[in-house]
Amino acid sequence: MADKTSVVFEDGDKRLTLPVKKGSIGPDVIDVRKLYNETGYFTFDPGFTSTASCESEITYIDGDKGELLYRGYSIDDLAINADFMEVSYLLLNGELPTVGEKEKFVSNITYHTMLHEQLAFFFRGFRRDAHPMAVMCGVVGAMSAFYHDSTDIMDPRQRVIASHRLIAKMPTIAAMAYKYSIGQPFMYPRNDLSYSENFLYMTFGVPCEQYQVSPTVARALDRIFTLHADHEQNASTSTVRLAGSSGANPFACVAAGVACLWGPAHGGANEAALNMLQEIGRPERIPEYIERAKSKDDPFRLMGFGHRVYKNYDPRAKVMQETASSVLSELGVDNDPLFQVARELERIALSDEYFIEKKLYPNVDFYSGIILKAIGFPTTMFTALFALARTVGWVAQWNEMITDPAYKIGRPRQLYTGQPRRPFVAMDQRG
Ligand code: SDX
Repeated sequence: MADKTSVVFEDGDKRLTLPVKKGSIGPDVIDVRKLYNETGYFTFDPGFTSTASCESEITYIDGDKGELLYRGYSIDDLAINADFMEVSYLLLNGELPTVGEKEKFVSNITYHTMLHEQLAFFFRGFRRDAHPMAVMCGVVGAMSAFYHDSTDIMDPRQRVIASHRLIAKMPTIAAMAYKYSIGQPFMYPRNDLSYSENFLYMTFGVPCEQYQVSPTVARALDRIFTLHADHEQNASTSTVRLAGSSGANPFACVAAGVACLWGPAHGGANEAALNMLQEIGRPERIPEYIERAKSKDDPFRLMGFGHRVYKNYDPRAKVMQETASSVLSELGVDNDPLFQVARELERIALSDEYFIEKKLYPNVDFYSGIILKAIGFPTTMFTALFALARTVGWVAQWNEMITDPAYKIGRPRQLYTGQPRRPFVAMDQRG
């Protein structure tokens, strides 16, 4: 395949030459856009396991090597050497910011962190025990009704403002969802705090006393945001792109991404993984759960294991594991039984033939929940934090799609296996 520029499709007397498009790295693709018109065939690929939906310059994953690049920079380098605002600028603009560019970007984000005051009323319509992701879906979608001056997707200036508003306001919305669930007053953002410090302040601060943000915790949270920022055309990013392809406004598109991310097979896995570790409870119960995960008759899966693309260790999980150790020891909970169970579960699973053969490794969600629980977040907030971090990826991908010359509404076809055309049956003829 090294230097192929085309492939030939033959079917009886039909012969079609299909171009091969080359990427800068990674697999080449066969451009099948003419296939149906020239041959009458659709391709069939439920779950898009072998289908490239777009061209992108933003993120690249090598699933076999366990490599993740944001605009060409390795996730390990970025997680250790950059902060989330630098990474956000990189994902949006394609280059790491200079000192001046970062200062301006951070200022733009900081001055968009407050929500329109009337949006606070939306929270009061939810039950106090509503899942934070239900609140995020509702309030992010409702932003479409408040920021009319940044919903014209064909105006580049409005796209920039909408992008900044979404990145800036997701922490405020997530923190408000948490405060509402525990009956505490909302905390307004503070412009003297960094992005991650501000989120911790709005979540755990109260009006009655000063709240001292732990630099270690803020750094760990900032790193978690970086690790979750983008990940090629995953389910929720594909949802945002598909919604955006119809011309829907960015707030509606990101609300659709939040809804998709909620699923336990996707962003909901961090909450499910921690609940699983709590259910296992102690190392001696691990074999029972490993057997259940292997059984075809049991729908149970090891949450936090396996990945559509990574058939090696998820590089984010490695950084997350190191971060977990430092945060837990900083918080004096490094003998957390959940962390012990997680380490032992990982050790056993990685030596088990089933997991080796199916290349099931820990993914980004396996350790994140342990850190977030240690910081003090309830499990129901874990996916909301994932959505907070992934917003910059969704917005970067959405902008890339809108400015792609090949931009058009997404409209997959199908293999129809239902009833052929048949005559109507009157009510008295049925049954
Ligand atoms: C995220 O796409 C992304 O990039 C997502 C993400 C991102 O940053 O956006 O990385 C974030 O969603 C991470 C994944 C979080 N989900 C989980 O941890 C949930 C548990 N994992 C599985 O549900 C599963 O691994 C998926 C959904 C993640 C991937 O599923 P695939 O690629 O569709 O593979 P599959 O379900 O067809 O599984 C292949 C085989 C199956 O066995 P067979 O049918 O071939 O016999 O592996 C088995 C599965 O039964 N398997 C598992 C397993 N995951 C897959 N068996 C036990 N435990 C598991 N966790």
